[in-house]
Amino acid sequence: MSAVLKPGTASTNENQAGGEASVNAEETIDGFHLVIEALKLNGIDTIFGLPGIPITDLTRKMQAEGLRVISFRHEQHAGNAAAAAGFLTGKPGICLTVSAPGFLNGLTALANATTNCFPMILISGSSEREIVDLQQGDYEEMDQLAIAKPLCKAAYRVLHAEDIGIGIARAIRSAVSGRPGGVYLDFPAKLFSQAVDAAAGRRSLVEVVDPAPRQIPAPDAVQRALDVLKGARRPLIILGKGAAYARADAEIRAFIEKSGIPYLPMSMAKGLLPDTHEQSAAATRSYVLAEADVVVLIGARLNWLLSHGKGKTWGGANAFGRKFVQIDISPIEADSNVPIAAPLVGDIGSCVGALVNGLGAGWARPPAEWTAAIVERKDKNLAKMAETLAKNPSPMNFQSALNVIRDVVKANPEAIVVNEGANTLDFARSIVDMYEPRKRLDVGTWGIMGIGMGFAVAAAVTTGKPVIAIEGDSAFGFSGMEVETICRYGLPVCVIVFNNNGVYKGTDVNPRGGDVAPTVFVKGARYDKMMEAFGGVGVNATTPDELRKGLTEAVASGKPTLINAVIDETAGTESGRITSLNPTAAKKK
Ligand code: COA
Ligand code: ADP
Repeated sequence: MSAVLKPGTASTNENQAGGEASVNAEETIDGFHLVIEALKLNGIDTIFGLPGIPITDLTRKMQAEGLRVISFRHEQHAGNAAAAAGFLTGKPGICLTVSAPGFLNGLTALANATTNCFPMILISGSSEREIVDLQQGDYEEMDQLAIAKPLCKAAYRVLHAEDIGIGIARAIRSAVSGRPGGVYLDFPAKLFSQAVDAAAGRRSLVEVVDPAPRQIPAPDAVQRALDVLKGARRPLIILGKGAAYARADAEIRAFIEKSGIPYLPMSMAKGLLPDTHEQSAAATRSYVLAEADVVVLIGARLNWLLSHGKGKTWGGANAFGRKFVQIDISPIEADSNVPIAAPLVGDIGSCVGALVNGLGAGWARPPAEWTAAIVERKDKNLAKMAETLAKNPSPMNFQSALNVIRDVVKANPEAIVVNEGANTLDFARSIVDMYEPRKRLDVGTWGIMGIGMGFAVAAAVTTGKPVIAIEGDSAFGFSGMEVETICRYGLPVCVIVFNNNGVYKGTDVNPRGGDVAPTVFVKGARYDKMMEAFGGVGVNATTPDELRKGLTEAVASGKPTLINAVIDETAGTESGRITSLNPTAAKKK
């Protein structure tokens, strides 16, 4: 039932023959149900959140009306789940939080989603405007809209039930159109109980038409890009997570294979083409970045992850004369760090499709001396990697444990990998090959820790596929309590905690004695017991064989599992491969 009656009116007759509800002319609908119907009208079927004042009843009614409500233990993880759901489905992921502190907990995820260009809507209940605006000390008083605004793509507040439809429509369109991002939607508590005429209320709901319209690039911009490409001697394509999000998989594959240009996937673009693809230059990253003379960026920004497009990584002084083609839906992305010779503004499917058409029959594949030099270096690095992975040290190190995961992912390419940590992240990125698009979720643009369990829950809920969460022991700590959520919903998630007793490693010593060093955890901790506490499967793995057995069984059974992978506590570098961002560690090196 999705309507309420004004007090004193006749009741509906829901059970009459034919199942049609005959309703009194004075039937009304309240804010709770308008929110639910507006979301359902727009194809939203899952809500990630945490109940409490003033949204507890909303979560109950959502569930009663057929929405799937996934309840978390902390709002940040519900928010991260919504963000990942947005990336994985292309629809805005919804996170629902209580006012003030719950809202603030969700805000980190909203800001992170915006930074990563993931579509997400944070809906938060809030305290009453009249009291908040006069600062009279309401329960959880906070001007949430003002606080959210600078941290997301758009922020709206709905005060009247008849505006709920428009409010939700604006939030959806803002989240997914153009460059996707996070949107805040503020619903003061009083909104939910407001009642309006049911027919008029339903008429006020909006089904958003074409929420993420295609954006066709201008023909002269396409020609400019082709002209730059045609002059290249050492071209390179860089695929970013925008390319994965765009779901232009066929166009991207056609462009890469028809042009013959080597490509480099950013971490969340891995698998757009299988990492084993002959044109992948991932295993010789430094060489291609330093040497390429024309670089085509597809859904990748020239931020810190690409050393801002300049400096030593890009060949230093030799970089003079390099040209960039940048395909992006945001018209202001070009020239953010270095000049872009050919900006191509539009959606990736349309832009890349236009380039494929423009290559034409006369297209000359890149010179063999460039592609052969890449293959030579790549083969050398792959051989070196194979040698490292063949070793079987005791205790396990990052590589020997990841070698097992690499095999299991190869055998289960549909599995979704979630990955966070420092060394655990950096080693996994190059060791665990990906074979399908949008199967790798990680720390993203901010390099943020704490996304693990939220992303894992979203991946399992939205796809139903096995999820393998590869977690540093420190990173896991940020969201570890959500293993209860994983067990509660019986999700097919296998968490592998790379346990080396500390942040980076477990060997730091406090020179003054007393407390342990700030980077050190309880030694020999048994994270597997956490999963057992909630009815899941716990495995303590001290060898690759034990890890292989545990992971293989977890993927086959779909049972919530946590494998405590015991790693040599001396393994690991401070800050992983981004030591240069950590001044003291950089000096030590
Ligand atoms: N076989 C052999 N070698 C491989 C390989 C494979 N399958 N895949 C990659 N490699 C090599 C690369 O060629 C590179 O070596 P090179 O520099 O000598 O060419 C090395 O392994 C590392 O490659 P990669 O992981 O792709 O790049 P990177 O570590 O230099 O960094 C970033 C690139 C910055 C984009 C990447 O590190 C990143 O996304 N970092 C995020 C870090 C973060 O957020 N940390 C969280 C805070 S602690
Ligand atoms: P990575 O970290 O993998 O390099 P980034 O997050 O830096 O990727 O870049 C993603 C880019 O993709 C953003 O600039 C964003 O505007 C762009 N983008 C996202 N979706 C689309 C799309 N559908 N079409 C074109 N560009 C897109």
